Amino acid sequence: MSTAKYVQNTLAEESTGHDWWHVYRVWKTALNIAKHEEGADLFIVQLAALLHDIADWKFHGSNSDMGVKTATAWLNKIDADKETIERVCYIIKNISFKGANVRNKMNSKEGRIVQDADRLDAIGAIGIARTFAYGGYKNVPIYNPEVKPKYHQTFASYKASNSPTINHFYEKLLLLKDRMNTKTGKRLAEERDVFMRTYLKKFFREWEGKE
Ligand code: NI
Repeated sequence: MSTAKYVQNTLAEESTGHDWWHVYRVWKTALNIAKHEEGADLFIVQLAALLHDIADWKFHGSNSDMGVKTATAWLNKIDADKETIERVCYIIKNISFKGANVRNKMNSKEGRIVQDADRLDAIGAIGIARTFAYGGYKNVPIYNPEVKPKYHQTFASYKASNSPTINHFYEKLLLLKDRMNTKTGKRLAEERDVFMRTYLKKFFREWEGKE
């Protein structure tokens, strides 16, 4: 079985925006970005993109190690060599956003590409859809004007957050444009960021009964 097929089977029923089609978009976008980045190993880019959400901490009792464990088991099954497993797992471990004021470094070219692709899927039109799907899964309100956005200082407080979905735009999504690693990623993020800001303006106007 190919890695793509394995991931598709594993994430088919996922309904929080981390499903197979999210992985598919990240895979394709990562390849698109990699075309413009010199010297990226496309094999690593593809494996990391395909396996990056195979067991996300958000859905496994906040256990950040599950992704690495699950990916390692699969890579062993397809006889990947030790170096490949290490490179892919390093990316899976470091790809996640961990809070507005938490900086995490990505010391791998392939990782920077996949991280950009993953972040691009969190913003723009698709990002908006995924954010509300995730809010529904977390049982949080769409918006509550009395709850102000929080800029999380630690990964622990970010993980524990249950603020309204609209706050998530301020706590994460609108910050991503400035955290893109690659030139192509930055360019694509600009346009998606503008779209989200337009969406939010309209959202708040409608909230107050305005046109
Ligand atoms: Ni992802």
